[in-house]
Amino acid sequence: MHEHTLKLLIPKEKIEHRVQQLAEQISRDYQDSRLVCIGVLKGAFVFLADLLRRLSITPMVDFIQISSYGAATSSSGSCTIVKPLGCDLTSKDVLIVEDIIDTGTTFRYLGDHIRSKHPRSVKICALLDKQYRRTHDVAPDYCGFVINDEFVVGYGLDCGEAYRWLPDIYVLTDHDTGATDGAEGTARPGA
Ligand code: IMP
Ligand code: MG
Repeated sequence: MHEHTLKLLIPKEKIEHRVQQLAEQISRDYQDSRLVCIGVLKGAFVFLADLLRRLSITPMVDFIQISSYGAATSSSGSCTIVKPLGCDLTSKDVLIVEDIIDTGTTFRYLGDHIRSKHPRSVKICALLDKQYRRTHDVAPDYCGFVINDEFVVGYGLDCGEAYRWLPDIYVLTDHDTGATDGAEGTARPGA
């Protein structure tokens, strides 16, 4: 029987501040662009909503849903498109908005898929980056926070569909393992 323990990693005030910084940077970089922000469902919907409302530019918005995890907490290593894109990306500047980059499997797949639609440019903005777990050579162009190899929930991120609604980000551990003992979670702003 699983009983989860949640340990606060990034409080909502810190998320807000960082999202504001990212929005200012993205607004500057895409001032004269035909920008399309593509939110990766479901995890990125909270981040995308907050980011969009802080931009001083007016991008188009679309969503794609990729399945790579199912209900497990480790990557299955393969991706399928659950909800395809709805708009034409030809000659557009695309910004993929992701909740988290873990192994990089999803981003690698998504990048190839979006590039096949003939956009002018493709960049990625990830709220969280577990860069120590990368198995593919990919890195976000915009990153909220670099975090350790810990499973996190809240602010759109789930575990088996639970915890998405939490306004802060927490490290989730299985109560049975006792793995959190003495181990504080850490997060630092990404590049
Ligand atoms: P990747 O393909 O291994 O990079 O995994 C990326 C996807 O896995 C993310 O978009 C998330 O949906 C999910 N994921 C990875 N790590 C976590 C986590 O710590 N909490 C919740 N979801 C995660
Ligand atoms: Mg995701």
